[in-house]
Amino acid sequence: MRYPPAILDEIRARLPVSEVVRKRVQMKKAGREWKGLSPFNQEKSPSFYVNDQKGFYHCFSSGKHGDIFDFLMETEGLSFPETVERLAGEAGVSLPRPTAENVEAEKRRAGLHEVMELAAAFFEKEYAGRRGTNAREYVARRGMPEALQKRFRIGYAPSERYALRDHLADKNVPGEAMIEAGLLVSGEDIAVPFDRFRDRLIFPICDSRGRVVAFGGRALSADVPAKYLNSPDTPLFHKGTMLYNAHQARKAAHERGVVVAVEGYMDVIAMAGMGFDNTVAPLGTALTEEQLAVLWRMADEPILCFDGDKAGRRAAFRALDVALARLPVGKSLRMAMLPAGQDPDDLAKEGGAPAMERVLDGALPLIDVLWARETEAGPLETPEQRAAFERRLHQALRVISDETLQRHYRDAINERLAQQFRGAGRRGGGYGGGYGRGGVRHGGGQGGAGGYGRGSRPGWQQETPGMRLPEGYRPSPALLRSGLFARQDADLPAAAAPREATIVAAFVAHPHLLEDHAETLAALEFASPEARRLRGFLLDYVAEDNAPESELVALSVKRAGLGDTYEALNARMVPSLRWILDPHADGLRVEDALRQAIILHRRAHTLHTELKAAARALAEDDSEANLAWMREVQVQLSSLDGAEADRED
Ligand code: UTP
Ligand code: MN
Repeated sequence: MRYPPAILDEIRARLPVSEVVRKRVQMKKAGREWKGLSPFNQEKSPSFYVNDQKGFYHCFSSGKHGDIFDFLMETEGLSFPETVERLAGEAGVSLPRPTAENVEAEKRRAGLHEVMELAAAFFEKEYAGRRGTNAREYVARRGMPEALQKRFRIGYAPSERYALRDHLADKNVPGEAMIEAGLLVSGEDIAVPFDRFRDRLIFPICDSRGRVVAFGGRALSADVPAKYLNSPDTPLFHKGTMLYNAHQARKAAHERGVVVAVEGYMDVIAMAGMGFDNTVAPLGTALTEEQLAVLWRMADEPILCFDGDKAGRRAAFRALDVALARLPVGKSLRMAMLPAGQDPDDLAKEGGAPAMERVLDGALPLIDVLWARETEAGPLETPEQRAAFERRLHQALRVISDETLQRHYRDAINERLAQQFRGAGRRGGGYGGGYGRGGVRHGGGQGGAGGYGRGSRPGWQQETPGMRLPEGYRPSPALLRSGLFARQDADLPAAAAPREATIVAAFVAHPHLLEDHAETLAALEFASPEARRLRGFLLDYVAEDNAPESELVALSVKRAGLGDTYEALNARMVPSLRWILDPHADGLRVEDALRQAIILHRRAHTLHTELKAAARALAEDDSEANLAWMREVQVQLSSLDGAEADRED
C-alpha cells in the first residue's frame, strides 16, 4: 500500500535519527552531531555521522546517506512497507485504516497463514513418525544433519491421497481454504480434490517474516516424473517475487555484507551447513527481476552462484541481461560458477567451506560474464565476425538505464576490444590484462595465473584442455578459471557409456523425438565427451529450426566433422538396443525404449553419486552400517545393468 507523505513526515518528526541508529550502532556525541563506526564498512576510525537537525545519517567510508527509513532498509534489509510499519510502531503513529475490502482480504490471508502453519506442522510430524522412515533415511543418506533438518523444517507428505486433507478437516479447516492455499489439486474435471504433495520430502517456503507460505516437494526416487513439485501461486505466495530462505538469510547477509543466490533448495541448506547462512534460491524458475531487487535490498553486490553444467551456464547468461537492465545506481552483481558437474550440495561433500569460499572469491563482475557469453557465441577470425562480436557487446549494454554507468561499461568494453584484437592480430601478443578482480588471488587453479602472459599462445592451449574457445582469443586467467566456458571433457568417470551412447544415437536416428524431448536430452548428465559433443550438435541443430529428418541429420553430423564421434558412440551402444538405429523401427517402441533408457540413466547417475558418498562414509568410519550401505548401492547398481540386459524384447 502507499503511505501519504504526511504520515512519513510525522514518523520522521517523532523519531530522531540518532535514536533509531543508536539501537544498532554505538555513537558518541560530537558537537551537534553523533559520530560512530560505520555499520556498512569495517573501519577503525569513525566516519559515520548522524545529524538529527537535518534528519540524516552520512557515512563517509561508504558514501551512504539517508533518513531513518533508508537506515532500516539498508541495515536490516526490510522492504519499505515493512520499515514504515516498524517505525510507525516505534513512533506511536497509527497508519491509515485500511478499507473494508483490505480488512476482508487481510483476514482471509491471516486464515491462510494459519492453514499453512498447520500443514507445515503436519508434514514435520509425519516426517518424524512411522510413515516418514523412508524420507528420514533419504535425508540422512544425503548427509543433512538433524539441526539443519529442524531449522529448515523438513517434512514428509505421506503417499495417501487424502492424508493432509483429512488432517486439516479434523482441525475444522474448510476445503475451500485448503484449495486457496494450494494444498489440494482441484479443478472442474476433478470430482474430489486431493492432496497435491504425496510421498514427497517437504521444504517449507517462508515469506520475509518467516511465515510458511508455500511448499516445495521433492520426489524420493529418481523414477518419479517431476523431481520437484511446488505450490502454485496463491494469495500468500508469488514465486516470482520471493526467495527461498530469505527470512533467515537477510540478517546474515547484512552482517556479512553479501548475499549469495544458488539454484536449489538442497543447495541453500548445504550452504547453511557450511556456514553460509546468507544464501537464498529462486523457487523453481529462473531468477526474475523482482527477485534481483530483493537481493539488492539485502546487499550491494549479491553473488549469483550457478551449477557447473550447461544449464548453469545458460542460467548465468540469461541472468546477465536481467541484471544489466535493472542495475540500480550504486549496486552491482557478481556471478560464480561451480566446478564442472557440481552444485553447492556436491561441493559441501567434496571440499567443504574452503572450496566454496574459493568459488565465491572467484566470482566475476558482470562485464566478464558478458565478455564470456559473447566470445562463446562464435568464431572471431574474420573482420566480419569481430564486428558482429563488437555489435553484440554494445547491444547488450544498451539496456543499462543509468547513462554514466552505461558510458563506463562501453569504455571498458572498447578497451578490451582494442587489447584483444591488437594482440590477436600479432598472433602471440599478450593479453593486456589487469582488469577484473580476483585474478591473481589464487593462482594454481585450472589454467593458473602463472605462465600466462606475453606470447603465451601455445601455453594457454595446454592450460585449458578441452575448453571451447574461439580461435585467436585469449581470455584473462580469472575468466579461464571461472567455468563460464564450456568444457568438453569434465573429469567424470566414463561408467555409463553404453547407455549414453544409446540415448544419443536414438536421437540421431529419430530426430523428430527432439521436438518433444530436447529439454530432457539437454538436462541429462553425460560422462563421455563424445556423447556431450553430439548432444550439443543435436540441440543446436533443432534450435536452428532444421528439419528433423534422420538423413539430413546424419549428413550434417558428417559435415560438422562429427562422423567419427558418431561411429564411436554406435560402437558402444547397449547391444540389445541396437534395433533402435533402424529408421523404420516402430515409433512407439523406440520412444518407449528411449524413455526406459533415460530413466535408467538418471537412476544410475543418482546411484553413482550415492556410491561416492557411501565410499566416503566407509573410508571415514568402516562400520557395519556403512559397509551395508555401500553393498546395497552396489547391488542396486548391478541390478540396473541387469534391467537393461533384460530388455531384449
Ligand atoms: P536441482 O535439480 O538443482 O535440485 O534444481 P536441487 O535443489 O539441487 O535438489 P537435489 O540436489 O537434486 O535433491 C534446482 C531447483 O529447481 C527447482 C527447485 O526449486 C530446485 O531446488 N526445480 C527443479 C523444480 O521446481 N522442479 C524440478 O522438477 C526440478
Ligand atoms: Mn542438487
